[in-house]
Amino acid sequence: MKLKESLLSRRDFFTGLIYGSLGSVAAYLAYPVVRFLYYEKKLPLPKAVTITLADIEKLSLNSAVYFQYGYLPGILVRTEAGEIKAFSAKCTHLDCNVNYKPDTKTFYCACHDGYFDITGKNIAGPPPTPLVAFNVKQEADHMVITYPEEGGEEAKKA
Ligand code: FES
Repeated sequence: MKLKESLLSRRDFFTGLIYGSLGSVAAYLAYPVVRFLYYEKKLPLPKAVTITLADIEKLSLNSAVYFQYGYLPGILVRTEAGEIKAFSAKCTHLDCNVNYKPDTKTFYCACHDGYFDITGKNIAGPPPTPLVAFNVKQEADHMVITYPEEGGEEAKKA
């Protein structure tokens, strides 16, 4: 059976098609932003992360390597004296990742030219607070890295 008149005008059909397409594009663009802002911060952090001493000994003195602490990027530094330090690699300004600069023994954030010293203290640029320092403890043949008790900014967000 064929209807004599359409239930939907051509204008209404194309208007709906355009609004539907725009809505799909908006949802496609908004999803990663919403996920970045809310989703990851609700994930629980692990109680600890272990790194074997054999892996740490492969690291040259005065150099750094990234590691993952749950959803948080971490940066582990082996100082010139052989001491191991670990920090959250997220800059305390706007969450960009920091890099270690062996020549100046500082952490550098390229986003807005922020600097932190080897203890994680913010020393130049816009970062308002020091890097979050992880606790590092040697056990048998590995290092155990844990999040600080008071938790800093990340714990408040979680
Ligand atoms: S995000 Fe690191 S200085 Fe702005």
